[in-house]
Amino acid sequence: MNTIENLKKYNQTRILKLLENASAQNTKTLLTDLKKLNFDEFFETYNESQKEIKIDESKIKELPYLVKKELNPQMNKLFFDLGMEVLSSGEYAVVTMAGGQGTRLGHSGPKGTYSLDIGGSQKFLFEVLKENLEETNKKVGKTIPWYIMTSPENNELTQIFFENHNYFNYPKEDIIFFKQNHLPLIDTEGQILIDKDYHVKKASDGSGSAYNSLKNDGCLEDMEKRGIKWIFIGGVDNILLKQTDPVLLGMAIYKNSQIASKTILKSYPDEKVGLFCSYDKHPRVIEYSEMPREIAYELTSDNELKYKEAHIMCNLYTLDALKFLSEQKLPYHIAFKKNSYLDESGKEIIPFKPNSYKLESFIFDGFPYFDDIALLRGDREENFAPIKNKEGKDSPATAKVLYKNYHTKR
Ligand code: UTP
Repeated sequence: MNTIENLKKYNQTRILKLLENASAQNTKTLLTDLKKLNFDEFFETYNESQKEIKIDESKIKELPYLVKKELNPQMNKLFFDLGMEVLSSGEYAVVTMAGGQGTRLGHSGPKGTYSLDIGGSQKFLFEVLKENLEETNKKVGKTIPWYIMTSPENNELTQIFFENHNYFNYPKEDIIFFKQNHLPLIDTEGQILIDKDYHVKKASDGSGSAYNSLKNDGCLEDMEKRGIKWIFIGGVDNILLKQTDPVLLGMAIYKNSQIASKTILKSYPDEKVGLFCSYDKHPRVIEYSEMPREIAYELTSDNELKYKEAHIMCNLYTLDALKFLSEQKLPYHIAFKKNSYLDESGKEIIPFKPNSYKLESFIFDGFPYFDDIALLRGDREENFAPIKNKEGKDSPATAKVLYKNYHTKR
């Protein structure tokens, strides 16, 4: 089927009209872009993502977890030593997911290139993560390979940024960039958005893209060659993220788990965090928006919240687990966002409120493929200072205070 037939099949009336009105050059640009799009696959994914996620409350159960500060000294030492053994033998790698759009923060550039004044000096988010890695590198006398996931939109800018900053003196050969996928944006009428430069408007397709992208860009192979056995995957925007906690790693090894995660305690029933639970006998994170209210508020006999282990994008995997996940097709979720586009006459429309859907898979949708996960609850003050919004909650201002408090106590 050719492009025009595909556009008709999927009722893309706006694009068809736009093509009637466009110049020869713009027509060529747009048609070249559309030709690369697998319409059937995209619309199948889009239709799937539209389906409501049904949570069957009877399938939700608690998941076992340990609390780091309540571990007895012997257990703590056992986990620590097991973890340090892997770190010291150079079998550990770190992946930073830096392909997000950072729309809420509104920084012009990749989110990792955002800088803030912490600890008395101006630091980029990438630099904060690098310092965290370097601390462990010094302790173990090895360099942890650092894989950075970018998006087609921010890949070049990210790499130039690292080049311009001399890789923050991290060994260049141990920083490996890989690119995630992106998908077209589509409005509430099912019309694919076209950007002002006559390209199909796309956005990165979520953190869950990490699994396939690590394989597609040859990173899993590279890890294998380097003798990596354990891989940490985390976000770019938590300035207290502990990427190399030997206790979490040791706990996963001790429990013979393929996957592990550091959690923090949910502070109040309506806090907007994903929660760990066992769903239909498999580990799962349920997003706050999908969590049934009764479950979010459910209390134990001790009057504590029953489901309270919050996911903070602090996850560990064996290489085998990642290889397996890289072969799976994770479900897509839909996010309603504000995006500009060309109308059928070629005029750019800049909406004031959300007008279009972005398709995203989530990193935690990999967990249900496993039978168990090693969960270790860390202190919120030690592990969580996210930068999501420009102002208010989870903003640079709140993160700075948390960072300072943690580092002055250390
Ligand atoms: P978020 O969804 O919280 O942030 O991603 P975001 O996408 O950067 O920002 P908003 O939602 O547009 O404001 C959490 C982590 O996952 C990464 C982000 O870079 C961040 O580290 N991520 C998210 C990706 O790498 N790719 C994606 O497609 C989405």
